[in-house]
Amino acid sequence: MKQENCKRCRGGRFAVGRGPEENWGAALADPKKLFIKTYGCQMNVYDSERMAEAMGGSGYVTTDVAADADMILLNTCHIREKAAEKVYSELGRLKELKITKPDLKIGVAGCVAQAEGAEIMRRQPAVDLVVGPQSYHRLPAMEARVRAGENPLETDFPEEDKFDHLAERPKAGRGPTAFLTVQEGCDKFCAFCVVPYTRGAEVSRPADRILREARDLVERGVREITLLGQNVNAYHGHDAGLAGLIGELARIDGLARIRYTTSHPNDMDDALIAAHGSCDKLMPYLHLPVQSGSDKILRAMNRKHTAESYLRLIDRIRAARPDILLSGDFIVGFPGETEEDFEATMGLVRAVNYGQAYSFKYSSRPGTPAAERAQVDEAEKTDRLGRLQALLSKQQYAAQDAMVGREVDVLFEKPGRFRNQMVGKSGYLHAVHVTDSGAGAGDIRRVRILQSVKNSLAGEVLA
Ligand code: SAH
Ligand code: SF4
Ligand code: F3S
Repeated sequence: MKQENCKRCRGGRFAVGRGPEENWGAALADPKKLFIKTYGCQMNVYDSERMAEAMGGSGYVTTDVAADADMILLNTCHIREKAAEKVYSELGRLKELKITKPDLKIGVAGCVAQAEGAEIMRRQPAVDLVVGPQSYHRLPAMEARVRAGENPLETDFPEEDKFDHLAERPKAGRGPTAFLTVQEGCDKFCAFCVVPYTRGAEVSRPADRILREARDLVERGVREITLLGQNVNAYHGHDAGLAGLIGELARIDGLARIRYTTSHPNDMDDALIAAHGSCDKLMPYLHLPVQSGSDKILRAMNRKHTAESYLRLIDRIRAARPDILLSGDFIVGFPGETEEDFEATMGLVRAVNYGQAYSFKYSSRPGTPAAERAQVDEAEKTDRLGRLQALLSKQQYAAQDAMVGREVDVLFEKPGRFRNQMVGKSGYLHAVHVTDSGAGAGDIRRVRILQSVKNSLAGEVLA
């Protein structure tokens, strides 16, 4: 499986497509090959993995080479205009592949599939199937229909729970980190955002199913689980919310690290804040998007919090876990944003001091309330984004540089680019590399940080 280099997913680190040797279909004499290209957020990465597993039951193995594939699935993102347009350019290229390989099947999954449905096949007739995020369990049946000459489209929000119908996760070994979706959808309706329309209403998976999936992952060698949800801290599948679920996960032997993303400030309850102080397995990193530092813009965005309430929340989180590394999302050039509003965002960034951040120019999305409003000039947006990113990068590098001389635990994930090098992540999600350490994938070792380089830290293993 391939993943578009998405900064939020940290450069494709999570493109965990199983090689043919790990796939059930390998037992078949002549397995069909499936190539999945994943765009967008971590939930799409998780979904791609689940789709590959579902298709394993139909005799498919995954391949990293599109030209070898019998079926190509694009797992798409609709969050900004560019993300959606990329899909149509890619489909244009795949159409050419179909000329030389007429049996190739092409499917579109994900949020563009949900948002545009049949329009995709109209715009690109080479597409054989379109499947929305809530219907992935139906993919094997859809593939059979494609082979029977149909062009199936599934974009409703079915009554049945897709997680109940998805294939069991295979037992073969895998890398030491994994995503696990616990909540999907969003009821917040921020005025700029397509997610409530593409992923539907907030739904939480029951805690017992999540715990079973987590235990399974740990048995297969996983040491760190990142709980996923569009609004993960709105999770209500456990009586004690996300904090309750984290508490139960922390009792799983062998599971060393827990993370969660993405959170909404209004759903950070007392128990979750306290968990950051009391649960050793909960890593000191929190992605808590604020979008803007101007109350006028926050109101226009329908965020239902103020800059001040966000700052007070950060104070409480830091009181519980003083060394926590904070990350955020920002939008510049939202309709109505003046220079003064933008300065308020810069002020908030200075006040918080982020260790990591993602910032975007506002992109007008059809069907969302803000799309109808007067738009900020594009050159102005570009200028503001440049200024904001310069500040955020400065903070990010300062946080990274401040690690030099410190000792941190690193979970090693894979060999690095150089001989005898291993790379892994600290609890703060900094990439750390060491050489000649003897550490293997899945090991957690104490490391002294020696140097801060462009996007990673160099260290030496102590024990
Ligand atoms: N559920 C998460 C974020 C989902 S989308 C949350 O509420 O924080 C990820 C990020 O994309 C958002 O936080 C926002 O910063 C950005 N985004 C969403 N819609 C956008 C749009 N129309 N234009 C620009 N950025 C957008
Ligand atoms: Fe989108 Fe807002 Fe929901 Fe996040 S909380 S997914 S930004 S509508
Ligand atoms: Fe994109 Fe859908 Fe994720 S719009 S960010 S893939 S929820």
